[in-house]
Amino acid sequence: MLLSRRDILQLLLLTPLIQFFYSKPAKASDNFPETVTALKEGHKAEATAHQRYVLFGRLARENGYAGIAYLYTSLASSEKIHAENYKRILGAMGVSVELLPETSIPIGDTKENLIYAAERELNSINITYPAILEKIKAESNVDAIKVVEYSWSSHKQHLDIINKIRRWSPSFFETVARKIDEKTDRYFVCEICGSTVTETPQDKCPVCQQAATSYRLISPEEFMG
Ligand SMILES: [Fe+2]
Ligand SMILES: [Fe+2]
Repeated sequence: MLLSRRDILQLLLLTPLIQFFYSKPAKASDNFPETVTALKEGHKAEATAHQRYVLFGRLARENGYAGIAYLYTSLASSEKIHAENYKRILGAMGVSVELLPETSIPIGDTKENLIYAAERELNSINITYPAILEKIKAESNVDAIKVVEYSWSSHKQHLDIINKIRRWSPSFFETVARKIDEKTDRYFVCEICGSTVTETPQDKCPVCQQAATSYRLISPEEFMG
């Protein structure tokens, strides 16, 4: 069947209308492809870190290292907040993330785990978070940048203890374990940014600047199963 000139003209006029109705609506995430990728990877890393600290904490407790177990519990709580922050920002862009529990977390004895954890923390402070920020800054998603900065700053709060653990644990692990026991009375975690402290600030959280009431006292029993 041959189309008349009038039919062709009508088709040409209708095409944009058809495209308008049948094209997929643009999603918020389309404007932030690098940010979405980085936040998905970040979410997986934070959720795995949470899981790792829960497992390390349970083993430390079983082996009689109550202070180290409690330290891990507070860190696991902080990592959970970091992961939830990324998930929330992704959700606001229409991206959902669901994770299967990681099954390949290496676990050693408590001394090995402590040294490994300190190395991972240092690596995330010096390499992982700066790399994520570098990757996402060009897209200027303010909320995404904010939560990554929260994570980075809250990890940097542990730099002193990380360095002490790295320095002394290889040769004097039992002394380090006792010091952690003696020094740790209570841990508090800011539920907005994951900042972890042993005393609540007077006024505001030093990381997210929200009221000090954002801090929650962490129970040593949390995550112990
Ligand atoms: Fe984290
Ligand atoms: Fe905070």
